[in-house]
Amino acid sequence: MATEKTFYLETFGCQMNAHDSEKVIGTLLQQGYSQVESEEDAGLILYNTCSIRDKAEQRVFHRLDYYKRQQHLGKRFAVLGCVAQQEGEKIFERAPYVSLVSGSASYCKLPEMLARLEAGETRITGLDDRQTDETFETEFTARQNPYRGYITIIEGCDKFCAYCVVPYTRGKERSRTSSSVLAEARRIADQGYTEIQLLGQNVNSYRDPEGKRSFAELLAAVGQVGGVHRVRFTTSHPRDFTRDIVDAIDAVPTLCDHVHLPVQSGSSRVLRQMAREYTSDWYLERIAWIKAARRPISLSTDIIVGFPGETPDDFIQTMDLIEKVQYDCVFGFKYSGRPNTPALTMIDSIPEAEKVTRLQVLLDRQREIQRGNYARHLGEVMEIMVEGQHPSRGQIAGRSSQNKPVNFTWSQPIAPAPGSYVRVKITATHPNSLVGEAV
Ligand code: 5AD
Ligand code: SF4
Repeated sequence: MATEKTFYLETFGCQMNAHDSEKVIGTLLQQGYSQVESEEDAGLILYNTCSIRDKAEQRVFHRLDYYKRQQHLGKRFAVLGCVAQQEGEKIFERAPYVSLVSGSASYCKLPEMLARLEAGETRITGLDDRQTDETFETEFTARQNPYRGYITIIEGCDKFCAYCVVPYTRGKERSRTSSSVLAEARRIADQGYTEIQLLGQNVNSYRDPEGKRSFAELLAAVGQVGGVHRVRFTTSHPRDFTRDIVDAIDAVPTLCDHVHLPVQSGSSRVLRQMAREYTSDWYLERIAWIKAARRPISLSTDIIVGFPGETPDDFIQTMDLIEKVQYDCVFGFKYSGRPNTPALTMIDSIPEAEKVTRLQVLLDRQREIQRGNYARHLGEVMEIMVEGQHPSRGQIAGRSSQNKPVNFTWSQPIAPAPGSYVRVKITATHPNSLVGEAV
């Protein structure tokens, strides 16, 4: 039987959301709630939602509709995150059994909102219209990932790319002080985390409110915290990506040899329409810096196909760009019109079938590029961080510093613990993963 102070939280969307959920869970635990594994056992059900594309948003409404039919009487529902901020009080109309709606920029008020919920209020909102200067810092973060510690360094976004909902859902850009980021890095390294991932919608536009460190300096400083073995960062914006980031990776061995640099399109004309504030040549110049680093740095990107007005020639320029860069990973998306965004006023001119075709052409070619890239690792010995057991093959699953998945065999009776490091010789390669044996 579900008691009132039990909760179930489900997270959709990006790593920022995953980490927000860790902070929300920590806050709930601190307020005397206990976490349960299923909706059935929970008195309070929370969905931390994503609205980056229409499909992501629809998933949330399917979940809520499911509960309407199930009539889970007595349970309370909270909708958090990007759909909450975007739809606001409209969620109460669509799902009247929801009692709390809050966007991420209002989470610092969660304890107060929870108290109102417990007092029986049924229409509690935490919605922010880009006014807040606050960041959601809490010492109660309940990290759910046993080996990778996320640390937010910057929240919100001021870029306003024409297609993107994030500036409207996550509020204006605000950075944490580098001292508080470093204190958190030290704290979690002391707890045994050896991998740290610095998070922000655009980490490259990090501005230390104390003026002590640039992003590259903060990155290097986190990499030098005792006990830290790997540092990652996401997401970068080419416009703000500076050369000193590559210098930092060169100088500090704990900084992982991987950069995710979303390009979105290879056509400068489309990039202008997207308000990305760079051309494909500007982007390729940054790629050249990264490729000139002392260690080979793995590159990944995000690409949108079928942006309003994207011509066959624009798309060919995107294909040319992936040929030039030779990424290790491409996340490809079909353009999806989002509420409030400037691109919504443009005609979504590319038919769905054409978007599907362009995405398929892109991903097919990328698969071949990756096949070649991954094949080059054959015979190499690399350090792998263990993440767990491969579900079906009885192998150990882990990741290289370049963030490539590696599944390997292990001859000892006791399997290495998640979070430990093992040297692995690569014996076979696939387009998306490597296979090896512990040495
Ligand atoms: N339609 C399709 N893809 C989008 N992305 C962001 N907004 C949209 C949209 N409206 C993609 C971008 C971004 C990634 C996280 O999601 O490629 O980098
Ligand atoms: Fe989704 Fe973007 Fe919000 Fe992350 S920031 S949850 S990707 S809409």
